[in-house]
Amino acid sequence: MKSTTALRKIIASHGPLTFCAYMNLSLYHPDFGYYARTPQQVGKKGDFFTSVSCGPLFGILLAEKIMRWWRDARVTGPWRIIEPGPNNAALAMDILDYLQEHHSDAYRLLTYVTIDPMPEPRLFQQQALARFSDHAQCLESPYGLPPLPTFVVANEVLDAFPCHLIELRNNEWQEVWIESVGENLELRETYRPFSGALPSILRAQNHDEGYRTEIREAPKEFLHSILTSMSYGRMLFLDYGFAEPEYYDPQRIRGTLRTYQNHKASEDALKQPGLMDITAHVDFTSVMRCAHSLGLKLVGFGPQEFMLSGIMPELLAKDVWRAEWQNNFQTLVHPAHLGGKFHAFELSWQEQREDDITGIRRLAMDPSFLGS
Ligand SMILES: C[S@@+](CC[C@H](N)C(=O)[O-])C[C@H]1O[C@@H](n2cnc3c(N)ncnc32)[C@H](O)[C@@H]1O
Repeated sequence: MKSTTALRKIIASHGPLTFCAYMNLSLYHPDFGYYARTPQQVGKKGDFFTSVSCGPLFGILLAEKIMRWWRDARVTGPWRIIEPGPNNAALAMDILDYLQEHHSDAYRLLTYVTIDPMPEPRLFQQQALARFSDHAQCLESPYGLPPLPTFVVANEVLDAFPCHLIELRNNEWQEVWIESVGENLELRETYRPFSGALPSILRAQNHDEGYRTEIREAPKEFLHSILTSMSYGRMLFLDYGFAEPEYYDPQRIRGTLRTYQNHKASEDALKQPGLMDITAHVDFTSVMRCAHSLGLKLVGFGPQEFMLSGIMPELLAKDVWRAEWQNNFQTLVHPAHLGGKFHAFELSWQEQREDDITGIRRLAMDPSFLGS
């Protein structure tokens, strides 16, 4: 409760905050934020599961995918994997263990860099990865890293970026602000006209009164910071989300914002700030627009099930498959489990390739965009 009370006091003293600023404070306040603590949010004893916490197979499949890129790109010298948002470093350990054992030639020249802006989680990550000595580095930011061939992998990171919450009230898009009231500093919503940029689809379509949804600012600074450390390579984001037309479907009347605590989902984001996860789906079209503006190309966009199943032949060919991974595989790829809910969104940087037109079409981007 200490975090919740402290955060309520901060909100009371600062006055109303946009929902976006409130989410940022609740998750990332340096002392009281949900993700500022020693990582224990993910897994059975935490608040929610991720593809990583279901078992080692996710990391093993991603390691094989990274190796496919490494071979195809003919990387011969030092290279890097960057993982933003590593949380308890489980994915880093799964990938590093597998590469060390099964791809020692690539592992020899590899540095695995985790990026977490929070000091306490970073300390935890450093300790967890200490056994890989020079092959692992835990940093606050990628700025300052000399450019190298790089593969970036980020699982459930974009959905943790703060978002604005807007609602159609009296035929006008209003933004949700959060204020603290009364002796108990109860949090409640208030509304002000939304002054940010609306996706064109929200301007063009007829949404019903009371329609609520989220808008995230483009992750330009985040993507740019990583690109400064890449001579060429790939970025792979795995997350729940939609292309814009699906995201802002007039039937999705209350948006995608959720909280998670003790494996229970709720839509009440004001209940216990600092003690629960707050998340919203990713609008992959807007991420793609931003990536394009930075010069990245789309390699692929589709359900996680196809991307992960596509790597299985490599794994089977190596004869390392274990029967005990069967359940783990089903959870990751079955369309009713994580396979359909999660999407794989892969970008390329400074490689000789064109955009994946099918992926662009799925994202329903303006075709004239391709020429720009
Ligand atoms: C839902 S957790 C993902 C955990 C982990 N990747 C997994 O799949 O088990 C989201 C993580 O992203 C981190 N994060 C948020 N913004 C970030 C940023 N700009 N750079 C790096 N990490 C960030 C949060 O601190 C949090 O640990």
